[in-house]
Amino acid sequence: MCNYDQIGMFNDEKKTVKRKKNKQPQKYDERNKLNDLTGAEWQFATKTVISKVYPSNMQHKLRSQHGGQKPPQLCADLIKTFTKKDQLVLDPLAGVGGTLLGAALVDRRAIGIEINPKWIEIYRKVCELEHLQQFEIMQGDANERLADIEDDSIDFVLTDVPYWVMDKLDKTRSAESARQSNLNKFNDSNLQSKGEWLQEMKSIFEKVYPKLKDKAYMAVFIGDMFRGKEYHFLSADLARTISEIHGFVLKSDIIWHDDSKMLHIYGYPFAYVPSLIHQHILIFRKEN
Ligand SMILES: C[S@@+](CC[C@H](N)C(=O)[O-])C[C@H]1O[C@@H](n2cnc3c(N)ncnc32)[C@H](O)[C@@H]1O
Repeated sequence: MCNYDQIGMFNDEKKTVKRKKNKQPQKYDERNKLNDLTGAEWQFATKTVISKVYPSNMQHKLRSQHGGQKPPQLCADLIKTFTKKDQLVLDPLAGVGGTLLGAALVDRRAIGIEINPKWIEIYRKVCELEHLQQFEIMQGDANERLADIEDDSIDFVLTDVPYWVMDKLDKTRSAESARQSNLNKFNDSNLQSKGEWLQEMKSIFEKVYPKLKDKAYMAVFIGDMFRGKEYHFLSADLARTISEIHGFVLKSDIIWHDDSKMLHIYGYPFAYVPSLIHQHILIFRKEN
């Protein structure tokens, strides 16, 4: 297992902690029911912008066949904020296992669901190559497989929703990985409206809700999009949709600044088109 220093957590935090040595509680407070962090660590873990650069490691080349994979160490940082050691994390849309790999890095348990067997195979291979604890990923549609998970058993949900497949940008990597991610579910004659995509996500999160313990948190990665001539604020749309599920309360919107993103020239020299180098991480809490 990796320890605190091996996964490079809180490097900038350590520096600042040193500067403010006498002001922040350095000791773990026994009243802390959420995580294993000291007050000083908590201070940084609750920042709303993540600007740390995550290395392309842990069999990145193998995992990048997916196209939507998340850095396991970013997942580990989030898991450390919302759980204690040995607690159970669920990812109902597991992909090649960013969440599960992150859980193994910080001594948590995890379980996943993934519709595409190819991504599960890659996750297993990565665990073998990295000598990491391998958790179960159930193969199938989360809408059905969530029924196999015990109610009130999950301490934290960390997940990453599939793309909204709304256009025919056949040659772009994102459209290709979107099609792969969704197991060719959508073809050109069967594209989704934004409303249909949101309903599909809602249906999954309605089934996730009873699995979480009361007062536990859920974090959802979601990127906005610029398509056609407009910006689609998908993070806001998804936040509103999940908030409609009774008991899920939106607590934060963390911006992950992904500095590894390649910059392209969009729109030049005719119109401003944004280069999206951030994603949102929506934080919800189950509050009955
Ligand atoms: C954005 S990706 C997750 C990537 C993941 N965070 C990782 O690090 O690899 C979303 C995943 O959800 C899967 N998926 C889409 N619809 C699903 C469904 N109804 N049930 C289970 N998995 C689904 C896709 O195949 C895709 O791998």
